[in-house]
Amino acid sequence: MSHDVETELTAAVSAQFARTPDPRLRKILLALTSHLHAFARETALTFKEWRQGVEFLTRVGHMSRDGRQEFILLSDVLGLSMLVDAIEHRTQESATESTVLGPFFVDDALTRPNGADIGAGHPGDLLLVNAVVAGADGHPLADADVVVWQSDEDGRYDIQYPERDGYFLRGRFRADAQGHVQFWTIVPPAYPIPDDGPVGDLLNASDRHPWRPAHVHFHISAAGHRTLVTHLFVAGGAYLDSDVVFGVKQSLVVDLAQHAPGTAPDGRACPAGWKTLDHRFQLSAL
Ligand code: BEZ
Ligand code: FE
Repeated sequence: MSHDVETELTAAVSAQFARTPDPRLRKILLALTSHLHAFARETALTFKEWRQGVEFLTRVGHMSRDGRQEFILLSDVLGLSMLVDAIEHRTQESATESTVLGPFFVDDALTRPNGADIGAGHPGDLLLVNAVVAGADGHPLADADVVVWQSDEDGRYDIQYPERDGYFLRGRFRADAQGHVQFWTIVPPAYPIPDDGPVGDLLNASDRHPWRPAHVHFHISAAGHRTLVTHLFVAGGAYLDSDVVFGVKQSLVVDLAQHAPGTAPDGRACPAGWKTLDHRFQLSAL
C-alpha cells in the first residue's frame, strides 16, 4: 500500500510539472522530480535526515556572499562542476581540455606587458611561463586575451587576504603576432580549498581531504573561438590523483624544466636558478 503511495506521488508531481510551457525547463523539472524521489526511496530517507539536509543547504546559503560561493564549492566537491564541464565540451577533440574556473577568477586583472613578473615581491621558486595560443588547426591567435592567476607560496590567492593592497599573482596578457605570451611567476604550491564552512564539514564527515594539486589558472579568449578555461598542473606534485574538485586531466599535467643559477634568456639574473613551463594552448573555433 505505502509503495503505491510512493509511486503515485512521483506521478502526481510529474503531472503538474508536465504543464511547464518551456520545453527545456519541463525536461529538467521532470528529471529532477524522478531522480530526487528515486534518491529518497533508494536510501529510505528519514524525516530526521531530510531535516539535516535542509539545514545543511541553509548553512551553504548563509555562507555564500561576495567572494565566497559555497554552493559552487559544493558542486565542485560533488564532481558536478566537472561533469557539467565535460558535457559542455563533448565535441572538441583537438582543443586543449578545460577544467573548473574556481572561485578566484577576477575579470579586471591588471593588463601586463609580455615578460612581466606577476610574482614580484613574493617568495618562491622563480618560474618563467612561455605559452602559445593557437586555433585547433594550429595557426597562432594574435591578440588572444590571456588571464592567469595562482596562489602564493602559502597556498592563498590575493583575494583571500582581506587587508591586501591590489591584486598579485594574477595578470592579463595579450598574445603577440605569433600567439606568444610570456610571464614570470613563482612555482605554485598545492593548497586546500576553503574548508571552514559546511562544505569543509562535509569533507570531514566523509573522511576526504580538502587539497588541490599545484596549478596555474588560464582563461583564454580570442575572436571567433570558444573561450578556454583551464589550468596547468605541476607534474610530480601531491594530490594529482585525489584533487578534491576532480579537476585534473592528464593532458594538463606539465613538466617544469629546471635551469642552473645564471642569467635567464631575457637577461634576468637568477642566482638560485629558475624553472620554465612551455605550453601550447589550442582553442576550438566557434
Ligand atoms: C581553484 O583552483 O582555485 C579552485 C577550484 C575549485 C574550488 C576551489 C578552488
Ligand atoms: Fe586554483
